[in-house]
Amino acid sequence: MPVGGMGTVRGRRVVVAAVAVALAVLMVGAARAVARWVVETPAPAVAAQPSAELANPLPPDAETVALGRRIYLQNCAFCHGPGGQGNGRAAPGLIPPPEDLTSVGARRLTDGQLYMLISAGVPKTAMPAWEKVLNSGQRWALVTFIRAEIQK
Ligand code: HEC
Repeated sequence: MPVGGMGTVRGRRVVVAAVAVALAVLMVGAARAVARWVVETPAPAVAAQPSAELANPLPPDAETVALGRRIYLQNCAFCHGPGGQGNGRAAPGLIPPPEDLTSVGARRLTDGQLYMLISAGVPKTAMPAWEKVLNSGQRWALVTFIRAEIQK
């Protein structure tokens, strides 16, 4: 039997080492390929359209404003107050207090930001998420109402 041939323990060790080196080279190559793919692949279209830029799909007519007013008085006035100044009946017990929706800060929000805040709520405050309670049309009607009457 030849010394160092495939049949010997040493021969097998050489083969195992060679396979390990080959695997390591392959893995480094794969990791480089993934890194290049991550860097070069463009972000998905969703990220290109931040929620702040969402546009209100409803016409700002009297009917939409009336719908928004009805929903607001039923669901929001309790905390934010009938006029939106953050002075609803429940307000005195709340920390942080309900936002004054007539404030400069609230007026600066885009329609999309307003819609997302209403939809998702504000974690660790009394502000609930409304996306499972009100459908998207109802939430956009709230945006229309807040712009047309509360922030008029
Ligand atoms: C149980 C009380 C409560 C109810 C009901 C409630 N809110 Fe709020 N809301 C809050 C509180 C408290 C905050 C302030 C959170 C903070 O400090 O960031 C808030 C914040 C907000 C904000 C964020 C304003 C900003 O400038 O960041 C909007 C918009 C808003 N509420 C709209 C609504 C609408 C519309 C409804 C009804 C569908 C509603 N809220 C119902 C308590 C309430």
